[in-house]
Order: sequence, then structure tokens, then C-alpha cells
Amino acid sequence: MALSSTQFQLLQEFERALDPQHPERSTIPARILGYGEISTVFAIDAAELRGWAFKRLPLFHDHAEIENYRAVFAEYDRLLEQEIGLRLPPRDVAILDGARGRPIFYIVQQQFPAESIGNRVLGALPRAGVPALVTRVLREARRVWDFNRRQNRVQVAIDGQISNWVIEDPSRVEDTPLTYLDISTPLFRVNGVEQLDTELFLRSAPSFLVWILRLLFVKDVVNRYYDFHRNAVDLVANFYKEQRADAIPDAIRAANDFFADEAADLSVAPLTEKEVREYYQEDALIWSLYFSMRKIDRFLRTRLLRGEYPYILPEKIER
Ligand SMILES: Nc1ncnc2c1ncn2[C@@H]1O[C@H](COP(=O)(O)OP(=O)(O)OP(=O)(O)O)[C@@H](O)[C@H]1O
Ligand SMILES: [Mg+2]
Repeated sequence: MALSSTQFQLLQEFERALDPQHPERSTIPARILGYGEISTVFAIDAAELRGWAFKRLPLFHDHAEIENYRAVFAEYDRLLEQEIGLRLPPRDVAILDGARGRPIFYIVQQQFPAESIGNRVLGALPRAGVPALVTRVLREARRVWDFNRRQNRVQVAIDGQISNWVIEDPSRVEDTPLTYLDISTPLFRVNGVEQLDTELFLRSAPSFLVWILRLLFVKDVVNRYYDFHRNAVDLVANFYKEQRADAIPDAIRAANDFFADEAADLSVAPLTEKEVREYYQEDALIWSLYFSMRKIDRFLRTRLLRGEYPYILPEKIER
């Protein structure tokens, strides 16, 4: 799809009116569909914008940076859809003027019903249905690793966790199409060189944490997305956060059957319950610490230093 000029102008008005501290108070009403670590996804309540989801990325300092990102994003989008064969939603991008002259990147996508987003589907599924869901997600995700193995010039990463997939018809998990939503982190390497400037991820971090995050964290987190085993651990470990710990043993069994049988050629090591549990505990700890730090940082920047804080933080995240 392509945004019309009316839609583009409305979105620009929305951005201009947006107060990142109080998105609900905007003069153009909007509803938050999802929070990321660095982005926020909105539904905007204007007739011309209905039916679309708007993912807002406030990371960029200037136009050169955003143009770089746009190019890397476009190539990632092409790789996922054209080369790898993932199903992506109808979409477009827009670059808008934010407060203080900073450009803001928006990804505009067809808006899907909340009940069709993977984590909601998981929440509503009887336990017996969970193995089929896990198998379907891994079957889609494997396209990426098939591509990575077919050639060695370009290596592509995805974040295969359950909230990144749309299950078109949740009553037919076995055979309904799956769509991959979360394309805003365009990680891929050409001849071993990461194309995305991963320092961008550190932008939203409090400045007093940047050095330690860079040291301990960025490489490890980035590598996670290139590794099918770790993607699967992440997928299943997130079931704790989605309040489906009951289904984890079945999910692990489904993943291990998948890796042993239909994906045996990819030689992915099986998952263990211990690994999944430990991964979750570590991940939850890191992110809850990180969020507390960001709230302190926001307080310092907005109250004490009277500066602008461009990110939108959720009040409380269930872990
Ligand atoms: N097109 C869409 N239609 C409906 N809901 C959406 C759409 N895109 C995103 N969402 C909702 O917002 C959530 C977050 O979106 P997404 O996965 O793209 O970003 P994220 O994981 O929050 O961000 P990040 O990549 O920065 O970590 C989704 O899990 C989904 O619930
Ligand atoms: Mg996501």
C-alpha cells in the first residue's frame, strides 16, 4: 500500500500534536496497540487513518541517519518478502518532522484484529492446541535459516517471538496463514558486516547505562536473532510472560520434535526446560532493571533538566 497525501498530512498533524509523556491527551485521539523497547504502535482515530497501525520510531538525530535506516529497512523488507518468502502485511513508511526538528520514522501497516496477534491466540488456546501453534511458527521462521544456509553472503535475523506473528484465523492454527509483523529491527549481515547501526538501540537507554549495555549486551542480544535455537528458546520462554507457563513442557516437546524431524537438516540442538527457565529469569531481570533505569532517566531529564524525553514508556510491564 502507499499512504495518500491526505493520510501523510494527518499523520504529520498527529505527530505534531503528540505528547510522548501523555499520548492519550493528544488532540487527535489514538490508542496504543503495543509498546516496544524503543517504539510504540498506535491506532489513530481519524477516518482516513482507520484500519492502519502506526509504529513510531523516535530514534534518529538527523536526516542522514534516517536515510541510512530507511535504506537498510527497505533491503531487509525485500529480503524477508522476496528472497525468504515470509508473508508481511501491506505496509508503507513515512518520515515526519518531530519536535525540535528531529525526523521521526513511521511504519504503517494494515491493522490486524487484536485476537489474531500471536500472544492473544496463545492466551485463548487450549493446552492441546499449543504444540500446533509452536510448530507453525517454527515452520515459518525456518525459511530464514533455510535462506541463510542456501548461500553465505547474506545472513538474515528475525525476532520470532509469539507477539510478532499474526495468526489469520485463530480457529485454524494448523493451516491458516501466518504473517510476520515486527520488521522495524532490520538485522542482516552482508559478508559478515552488520548493515544496521546497532548503536541506535542504545539511543533509548539512559546515558549512564550506555557503556555497560554496549559492553555486556548488544552483541549478545543481536546474536540471539541470528540463531534458530536461541530464537526457539526465546519463543517458548516468553510463554511465562504470556501467562502460559502451563503449556511450556508441551511447547518444548513440539519444538524438539520439529528440530528432530522436519528440520533435521538444520542441525538445531534441542531445547531443555532448564534452559528455557533460566533464560526467562535472566531476561526478565535484565528488562525490569532496564525499565526502572529508564524511568529514573526520564525523571532526571524531564523534571530536573527540563529537557525533552522523546520515548513513550509503559507504566508497568507484566513479566
Ligand atoms: N499491524 C498491526 N496490527 C495490529 N496490532 C499490531 C500491529 N503491529 C503491531 N501491533 C501490536 O503491537 C505489538 C508490538 O509491535 P511490534 O512487534 O511490531 O513491535 P515491538 O516488538 O513492540 O517493538 P520492538 O521491535 O521495538 O521491540 C504487537 O505485538 C501487536 O500486539
Ligand atoms: Mg514485537
